[in-house]
Amino acid sequence: MENNVRPESMARITTPELAEAFIEEQIKEIREQVGDKKVLLALSGGVDSSVVAALLIKAIGKQLVCVHVNHGLMRKGESEQVIEVFGNALDANLVYIDATDRFLDLLAGVSDPEQKRKIIGAEFIKVFDEEAAKLDGISFLAQGTIYPDILESIKAAESGKPVKSHHNVGGLPEDMAMELVEPVKLLFKDEVRVVGEALGLPHGMVYRQPFPGPGLGVRCLGAITRDRLHALREADAILREEFANNGLEGKVWQYFIAVPDIKSVGVKDGVRYEGWPAIIRAINTTDAMTATIEEIPYSLLHHITHRITHEVEGINRVLMDLTPKPIGTIEWE
Ligand code: XMP
Repeated sequence: MENNVRPESMARITTPELAEAFIEEQIKEIREQVGDKKVLLALSGGVDSSVVAALLIKAIGKQLVCVHVNHGLMRKGESEQVIEVFGNALDANLVYIDATDRFLDLLAGVSDPEQKRKIIGAEFIKVFDEEAAKLDGISFLAQGTIYPDILESIKAAESGKPVKSHHNVGGLPEDMAMELVEPVKLLFKDEVRVVGEALGLPHGMVYRQPFPGPGLGVRCLGAITRDRLHALREADAILREEFANNGLEGKVWQYFIAVPDIKSVGVKDGVRYEGWPAIIRAINTTDAMTATIEEIPYSLLHHITHRITHEVEGINRVLMDLTPKPIGTIEWE
């Protein structure tokens, strides 16, 4: 637990120089911890795991095996991008596993958010343990845990009232065969980005908006179905495309669609058309502990609404979530 507390003397990493010092220190620590053993990394393609990958590649090179599990809950095009960037451009030791059916079958009929998170987290560990067994000689599991994950888990443990069990912290089986390597676990998100740039990762990757470990699983609210998950993924892709086209991509910290398990009555081509609502969430924050709402121009909201309701099968309404954190968390589940 002590290792999970950020020392008061630790300066905030705001400059390339401070990032360099952090990187040097981490490289030393990683080499000491790992020796000549192999490390398995859960590479989701998000900022945190990408930065951890770059850090580990620098520290231990080919002793790192990156495993990208496509749990079927990725955003549109995301797994393909992971293969392109890490498998091709960075020439990492990358294993790609398509576990879509495995995850979606396990999640079928499960509507409780905490249970969903625990199933996804535990299944991830299982997949990695299985991979480790196949790969032979893997001793460590690296993770992109960051400080807000730890703070919320500590707060939850102290109060006895969990906010939500974060994918990177909860759900680890006690008999897990591998020791953890979590080099950015004392950093806030903005610091992870400074470190990522200092490591030479592409700007677009480092400033990519965060994506939760359980992925679209916590945005396809309630029990996940393949058709609603598909609608969510398509609507989310439209939102991202429109934000990029309208100069909001680098400006808004996090934006996404959530789709609840509710149907309302609509009308399409003169015929009754029941569909789900797509909920737009667009927030700004520095450390994900609190968040404010981005004010999107109405003209753009109208355009996005038109596109989503006309291009995505099964969506007949678009809503905007105006709730700050607190009282809402950033994700809906
Ligand atoms: P909440 O919903 O707790 O989210 O206000 C705060 C930030 O964390 C992201 N998030 C996660 N990240 N594993 C992660 O790595 C998770 O299980 C997880 N759940 C939420 C969320 O997207 C937001 O940026």
